[in-house]
Amino acid sequence: MPETQGVPVVQDQSQSVALNEIVNSTTNGSPVPVIDYEGSGYRRDFWEGQGREYEDATERLALRRLLPSSGRRIAEIGAGFGRLADLYLGYEQIVLFDYSRTLLQDAVQQWGQDPRFVFVAGNIYQLPLASGVLDTLVMVRVMHHLADVPQALAQLRRVVRPGHVAVLEYANKRNLKALLRWMLGRQSWSPLSSEPVEFVALNFDFHPDWMAEQTARAGFRCQERLAVSHFRLPSLKRRVPAEKLATLDGLLFRPGGHFPLSPSVFVRAVVQGEEAADSPKVTELGVAELFRCPTCGTEPLSQVEPELVSCPQCGRRYQRHRQIWDFKEPVP
Ligand SMILES: C[S@@+](CC[C@H](N)C(=O)[O-])C[C@H]1O[C@@H](n2cnc3c(N)ncnc32)[C@H](O)[C@@H]1O
Repeated sequence: MPETQGVPVVQDQSQSVALNEIVNSTTNGSPVPVIDYEGSGYRRDFWEGQGREYEDATERLALRRLLPSSGRRIAEIGAGFGRLADLYLGYEQIVLFDYSRTLLQDAVQQWGQDPRFVFVAGNIYQLPLASGVLDTLVMVRVMHHLADVPQALAQLRRVVRPGHVAVLEYANKRNLKALLRWMLGRQSWSPLSSEPVEFVALNFDFHPDWMAEQTARAGFRCQERLAVSHFRLPSLKRRVPAEKLATLDGLLFRPGGHFPLSPSVFVRAVVQGEEAADSPKVTELGVAELFRCPTCGTEPLSQVEPELVSCPQCGRRYQRHRQIWDFKEPVP
């Protein structure tokens, strides 16, 4: 299978081609289409035993370099099955957010016994987290699927406290492989033009300059940029142990970050704005105060029952089912 950001793949124009069913989330009140990993075997089909130990190792190395190792509350947006969740164990509370309930169920199986974890299902475009509730935000291998990056970035910025950090990963259209293919006439789109390329439905690669402009517009200040995953070559990956290859990649992270030619780019960005007082301790905040109504935007919500929160404005109720707070649909 070719190297990808996503799930099952049939061809390799640049990085990935996901075969998941695509839903149009107009049904959820947003006109932006969303890729649907519901029912997908992402963990087994893409990661486990699929020869991606190097990608996993080098992404972990990048995150260790960029993430504050501890704090009150961290959220991973588009966390999938919680592949990277062990990196967040220095935090008092860990929110794993994803559109796919199936993948979140996988995460519950692994992390559900740990009371620090909160599992939340919803759509990034109507992010059901309250404003400024996070000390740190992470998003890896998700931008790649976003049809409306500015709208998503506005939501991400809203939920992080000013002065605090978001680590954002995106797929780089100006990667070495795309450049070579284009120069040889084997690829129609130019890796040098700034607009995003959707090479297959809901699979986008982005130009680093375009992404820098979008993050700045959304109110993020870029502190550091790393070029990651230079060695996604099956022949190399077969010969060199994953950890060693990741260590070599790590030597290129910073120099490469000045002019990324790698397929993946990690950015550490600080949310601009006046720094508020220290966030309330995790024990001082009820679970309903973590949330915002995805339909009308009211926050915080009110706790009705241990497994039920409601919106004081529109009255919609959202429940926790099998450990997952479900904001994809209100309770009928
Ligand atoms: C390629 S997977 C990456 C999962 C995880 N970040 C990792 O690196 O292992 C992309 C994830 O983004 C989620 N996703 C895509 N669009 C989303 C949206 N609009 N709102 C919330 N999650 C979304 C998918 O459900 C999926 O779990």
